[in-house]
Amino acid sequence: MKIAVVGRGNVGGRLADLWEQANHEVKRIGREGGDVSDAEAVVVAVPGARIAEALNNVQGIEGKTVVDATNLVGVDPPEDFSSNAEFVKSRTNGPTAKSFNTNFAALYDRIGEARSTPSNLWCGEEEARQIVEQLNQDAGFEPVYAGPLENAALQENFLKLVFAINRGGLGRFFYRMAPPDQL
Ligand SMILES: NC(=O)c1ccc[n+]([C@@H]2O[C@H](COP(=O)([O-])OP(=O)(O)OC[C@H]3O[C@@H](n4cnc5c(N)ncnc54)[C@H](OP(=O)(O)O)[C@@H]3O)[C@@H](O)[C@H]2O)c1
Repeated sequence: MKIAVVGRGNVGGRLADLWEQANHEVKRIGREGGDVSDAEAVVVAVPGARIAEALNNVQGIEGKTVVDATNLVGVDPPEDFSSNAEFVKSRTNGPTAKSFNTNFAALYDRIGEARSTPSNLWCGEEEARQIVEQLNQDAGFEPVYAGPLENAALQENFLKLVFAINRGGLGRFFYRMAPPDQL
């Protein structure tokens, strides 16, 4: 598959590595922007508050299948939208999904060490299902459907629960997190 990843940091950069290892062709786009006309799937992995300007710098995204991986840490989604994913849909008008926002990028390199295949949530439109499920599987995850795109706000808010659990230091698998500005 031809994949364009907007954002080449912890999430975008490492997912791009995993998909290249699975023989996909990946175009990596940073804040300078770029053209995604020939991509079959576009993954957005920029800081949540930068979503509008990131999309402004990307040409050829209209009608594309887009998977939004952003989280909103201490900021609201764009005005009049309950989630970044629904904002993306309004800008691209193509099949849209939310995924890759609930697992820590720092663990991507260790997916193969898990006792069983780690699950990863996605919500969004049926037209995006095939692509988002394949992207999950080819990164090493078992995709778990979390309902329609209207559930994206819930999935974005899931991070607050993850933070709360982490700050509570609960569980055998307590994982020390980076400061929020690095997430
Ligand atoms: N880190 C995690 O474990 C994790 C897990 C799940 C979801 N998330 C979410 O995923 C997103 C990315 O996180 P990250 O940790 O990968 O961040 P990061 O390492 O800081 O990388 C951010 C990337 O976004 C690009 N960028 C910044 N402003 C931009 C703009 N205006 N237009 C286009 N690209 C822009 C940067 O471009 P340059 O390369 O040009 O600097 C960089 O490549 C965030 O929304 C975060 O909340 C993070």
